[in-house]
Amino acid sequence: MDRFRFSIGAAVAASCLGCFAMIATAQEPAGVIEYRQAVMSAQAGHMGALARIVRGEADFPEDVPAHARALHDLADMILPAFPEGSLEGAETDALPAIWEDWEGFSASVEEFRTATAALVAAADGGDAAAVGAAFGEVGNGCRSCHDDFRAE
Ligand code: HEC
Repeated sequence: MDRFRFSIGAAVAASCLGCFAMIATAQEPAGVIEYRQAVMSAQAGHMGALARIVRGEADFPEDVPAHARALHDLADMILPAFPEGSLEGAETDALPAIWEDWEGFSASVEEFRTATAALVAAADGGDAAAVGAAFGEVGNGCRSCHDDFRAE
């Protein structure tokens, strides 16, 4: 009897995994747009925090590696957050150029990833001047992609 209960439990658990997979794949167009905007806002949050540290306005050098790593992790989320056709369903500043020039957009993401990797390396090295320079490069990466692929 206990065994029977257990196998029912296992069956329910297994079918719920199926449910979850269904929920995970049936995403909404508006949700995708809002998701990537939230990812972008998270990046802006880490950049804003780092800017205070780099400019010497706030003294939290021990936090620099965590912000750098967060930016590097977030960089990996950019490309998948722009699936083809995700230009409708919510207000978006994404330009059609993203999909018309997917190679260029991918290259921009890759450049940005490289810049965030350099920031992680500089942060781990602990040299303030190197962190400042790498931070500037990451900022250039944001700007350069926005210039080409985001509406004013
Ligand atoms: C490879 C391209 C690319 C890179 C790199 C990039 N962005 Fe963006 N960003 C975009 C696009 C495209 C949008 C418009 C998204 C939309 O509205 O659907 C956007 C939107 C935003 C927004 C507005 C979000 C909202 O709520 O509407 C902010 C803030 C932002 N980015 C900050 C940053 C920061 C800070 C960085 C660098 C640390 C960065 N982005 C790097 C392409 C990029």
